Amino acid sequence: MKFFVDTADVADIKDLAASGLLDGVTTNPSLIMKANRPMFDVIKEICALVPGPVSAETVSTDHKRMLEEGRKLAKLAKNVAVKVPLTPDGLKTCKVLRSEGIMVNVTLCFSAAQALLAAKADASFISPFVGRIDDNGHDGMMLIDEIMTIYRQYPHFKTEVLVASIRHTQHVVRAAKMGAHVATVPPNVLRGLFKHVLTDIGLKAFLDDWAKTGQSIL
Ligand code: G3P
Repeated sequence: MKFFVDTADVADIKDLAASGLLDGVTTNPSLIMKANRPMFDVIKEICALVPGPVSAETVSTDHKRMLEEGRKLAKLAKNVAVKVPLTPDGLKTCKVLRSEGIMVNVTLCFSAAQALLAAKADASFISPFVGRIDDNGHDGMMLIDEIMTIYRQYPHFKTEVLVASIRHTQHVVRAAKMGAHVATVPPNVLRGLFKHVLTDIGLKAFLDDWAKTGQSIL
């Protein structure tokens, strides 16, 4: 499974990219607002830091302007994945951008029917928002299971399931168990994947015992 980080905070991206485990980045208008910097500067900087797909979202809702925005965003760097919403105009734009060889991440997906349409529109990625489904009293990961079941019926579908709106490490683990292609993970959750109290306890015990030997390796 590929790990993307879900942020527009360049410092966080730099730190996590150094782990060697980062395969891409997703941003959206809210994350760009939080970064409090010009969008084009942020996207160009992120694209230079992480060679994998970097999602940059359009902000118009009509096909004509969304297409203009998508083409402009794609020109910022070769690894830009243009994000469009899962609407009729968004999928129309997706199809055209994909025919021009531009990566497209279709976002704000909340149903299997929507995900089926995104695959028909040749989306590079589909972003089901599991956390927001959880927030509304349902199990967002059941949507991932449904989408993966549908996509497996059609081997010619090239769309990768990019699990988004992740709230905790179990979303990542369950996504991996279901065979999702990508998880886009907030920085704090990504760092949390490393953590286990028994690892800390075990490491301390090893080092304490090693110290008692009086030996050194270097
Ligand atoms: O990539 C989409 C993600 O940023 C949405 O997350 O926490 O706003 O539901 P959230």
